[in-house]
Amino acid sequence: MKVIVVSSYDELSISAAEVIEHQVRVNPFSVLGLATGSTPIGTYRTLVKKHLEEKLDFSRVTTFNLDEYCNIEPSNPQSYAYFMKENFFSKVNIADHMTNLPESHAEDIEAVCMAYENKISSRGGIDLQLLGIGRNGHIGFNEPGDSFKSDTHRIKLDERTIKDNARFFKSIDDVPRYAISMGIKTIFSAKKILLIASGVDKAEIIYEMIHGQVRPAVPATILQMHPDVTVILDKDAAALLERRRTFN
Ligand code: F6R
Repeated sequence: MKVIVVSSYDELSISAAEVIEHQVRVNPFSVLGLATGSTPIGTYRTLVKKHLEEKLDFSRVTTFNLDEYCNIEPSNPQSYAYFMKENFFSKVNIADHMTNLPESHAEDIEAVCMAYENKISSRGGIDLQLLGIGRNGHIGFNEPGDSFKSDTHRIKLDERTIKDNARFFKSIDDVPRYAISMGIKTIFSAKKILLIASGVDKAEIIYEMIHGQVRPAVPATILQMHPDVTVILDKDAAALLERRRTFN
């Protein structure tokens, strides 16, 4: 695991965007796995800037998002489909049919999950997967205790995730209780993984992800076993790595 610590959120966003830029410039047909949430907003903003000012071309890129809430229409501002459109897809030259999110309002969820896995495989797998991390260690929406062997599946959100995500909704009661997420196995199959984390709230889980025992109770610990993971942290998210090294 390569860990890069930068001084601010802005620097983190630039560094993460550079990793994605490199991937797309080296292979314009790249398959990117994408994340939502607060952390990647600056990364998407930087990629949009690179598209507008430095001709970064997304026209041949295919994207697969990690997750989507269940029973939420793409037109709902709280959906991840809407988030991606707002923050990235509508601002770069990527056609709708090249972008993919789990279709979470469908009736046959199992069929949707299988189709998502098949589509990822038919594109040759994910070249670079962007990840954030939940304070409980979730990656995608793979909550503590989920199997490391899971493919894309429906997930009951953890109480902590519901509380954390309530900030995006009018009230906590509006937060969907279920989501569809790529499984840990899907994420782990990506050729390269880029995980970003910012803020002191993430310091404890980042320490655990890097130094903790690999176990389903902390899903992100599985990344210790992946051959090509880059972690970019701002100094607040890295605070315990620094401090505990000093005192050990
Ligand atoms: C989002 C996702 C989640 C988030 C995580 C961190 O697609 O899969 O795992 O990456 O909840 O969210 P933020 O960045 O809002 O702290």
